Amino acid sequence: MNNDFSNDEKNGLYKAIFSRRDVRSHFTSDPIDDEVLSRILNAAHHAPSVGFSQPWNFILIKDFEIRKKIKDSFEIERKRSSHLVEEPQKSKYLSFKLEGILDSPLNICVTYDPLKFGPFVIGKSSIPETGIYSVCCAVQNLWLAARTEGIGLGWVSILSNDTLKKTLELPEHVLPVAYLCLGHVSEFAKKPDLETARWLPRLELKDVVYYEKWDRKENSSWNNIHELIKANLDYA
Ligand SMILES: Cc1cc2nc3c(=O)[nH]c(=O)nc-3n(C[C@H](O)[C@H](O)[C@H](O)COP(=O)(O)O)c2cc1C
Repeated sequence: MNNDFSNDEKNGLYKAIFSRRDVRSHFTSDPIDDEVLSRILNAAHHAPSVGFSQPWNFILIKDFEIRKKIKDSFEIERKRSSHLVEEPQKSKYLSFKLEGILDSPLNICVTYDPLKFGPFVIGKSSIPETGIYSVCCAVQNLWLAARTEGIGLGWVSILSNDTLKKTLELPEHVLPVAYLCLGHVSEFAKKPDLETARWLPRLELKDVVYYEKWDRKENSSWNNIHELIKANLDYA
């Protein structure tokens, strides 16, 4: 079959991928239109999942008291994790804005239910983590769809899962996978905030692609792609 994506459609997808950002600041007070939100959630729900198990749920949260409890958990966990890093990195880490829990109009907790269709799921028995991988695929769909709708999204993982489970009244077997903050934004940064702050650089593509086996960075039967990758094409 011929490619049924036109060049414009392809460019649209690549634009979403390269301009997607993790957003923690720049949220505006504009509410998210319900139709837009339903499209974003539907995109998430059409992610691939191991054995078609669709192990996700999306808890939509706007209640201030709930969000405040989650924010408190962030503060505790951030302080706790700061002890894991030495100065001067510690102060730098503590100076970063790493969540938009109360600044954004909508929080979404994406959860993993390993028992949704009973214990047997095609493809999951050898690698049980594929259940959680599936939920991450849904999060990425959600993130890209949000970007396409002009909605910023930030993933907050500096949180206690126990607090999340208790606050959101999750059943014992259900795991919170992603806590997301969404809202309209005044801008999408060109680069990751952590790159701009010189916390870490973006690695070069040529350094993360191996040929045939681990750490093999050259191989004569991969010359063409190797040259293209080395040229460091910057589509973004
Ligand atoms: C699993 C996961 C957890 C993350 N947790 C946080 C977080 O707690 N706080 C934060 O500010 N950003 C968090 N991020 C965002 C990353 O820092 C961000 O994706 C990365 O710096 C690259 O920036 P970009 O998403 O704008 O390209 C998380 C991202 C992922 C995928």
